[in-house]
Amino acid sequence: MKAFAVFPAKHQARLIDHPEPKLTSPTEAKMRVLEVGVCGTDREIVSFQYGDPPEGFDYLVIGHESLSEVIEVGHQVSRVQTGDLVVITVRRPCAHPECIACREGRQDFCYTGDYTERGIKSRHGFMTELVVEEERYLNVVPRALRDIAVLVEPLTIAEKSLEQLAQIQQRLPWATPVEPGQFSTAGRRAVVLGAGPVGLLGAMALRVSGYDVAVYSRSPGGAENNDIVAAIGAKYIAAETHSIEQLASIAGPIDVVYEATGASGFAFEVVQHLGPNAVFIFTGVPGHKAPISVDTDRIMRDMVLNNQAIVGSVNAPPHCFQAAINHLGVFLSRWPTAVRSLITKRFPIEQAMEPLSSGAGGVKNVIAIAS
Ligand code: BGC
Ligand code: ZN
Repeated sequence: MKAFAVFPAKHQARLIDHPEPKLTSPTEAKMRVLEVGVCGTDREIVSFQYGDPPEGFDYLVIGHESLSEVIEVGHQVSRVQTGDLVVITVRRPCAHPECIACREGRQDFCYTGDYTERGIKSRHGFMTELVVEEERYLNVVPRALRDIAVLVEPLTIAEKSLEQLAQIQQRLPWATPVEPGQFSTAGRRAVVLGAGPVGLLGAMALRVSGYDVAVYSRSPGGAENNDIVAAIGAKYIAAETHSIEQLASIAGPIDVVYEATGASGFAFEVVQHLGPNAVFIFTGVPGHKAPISVDTDRIMRDMVLNNQAIVGSVNAPPHCFQAAINHLGVFLSRWPTAVRSLITKRFPIEQAMEPLSSGAGGVKNVIAIAS
């Protein structure tokens, strides 16, 4: 069957013929892949900066943002049935008995670093026609979300971040509502860094959670990103025309920053403008560049004197996939046009290299494999 793969040692990325997977345990299901989203991680993998083939292979089938349809189930499968739409989680546990995170099914917090990830690290991904997976890694999606469900995986990054934000801000009883809608506005001003898919999906999730949101972006941000931000009732602030001081004066004291750019210099400038009791969440993974200087005395002083927290967050557990599926349904009813316009273009797998080499522009580009 067709698959899109990277050969890191040969510095090649191309369409290949890959063997069809078969069910090997009674708790597995087989899916036909409908769509696969392309993100910055994929672009790094096809430029040979990231990603590892599985043992015994010289190539890695890429793709981790998937939507597929169940076509066959093992006889002990009970959570899904043929015809269900599913989104598959990305990370699989390490094998070390002492890794309590992986043993508890929380490989998103793996201690050893020996986890694997489908389409990224030592496991083939989803940019192919058929895939097999254990049912515990499958998350059923309602048919009504068919058009946009490929956004579930990038939204899980925000879901895990927001869960940790809520846990940290339990230290501020007024910022964490007991009843939805009951919180005060203190502690509810969020800035999203970056207007790519992870940033915009994060902005939507923050809006639904009741935050005032400003999206601060350095990329010239096409008109479509601007429209999406306006449609969800957030403010778009261009970094070209507004300094971080101006951002802070427009947005008010910043309570939360959701970083989705991977630009570390930019992020650390914003860190210096956090308000009291603020939380800064990093989700971007920067490539390695030359060191830059930052005012560490100021950052440390403010962090202590203002009770600030910085937290990094990666990957997501199954309950965050469920939260993302629920939230996408809410986004679709509140902002149908904006959420649909997050998907810019669909490409056949034969043209996968176009969005993978970032020549495609737009917000989220998708490889459409079957309909
Ligand atoms: C994926 C995560 C993954 C991370 C690091 C991201 O693009 O969404 O699932 O853990 O890359 O490999
Ligand atoms: Zn991704």
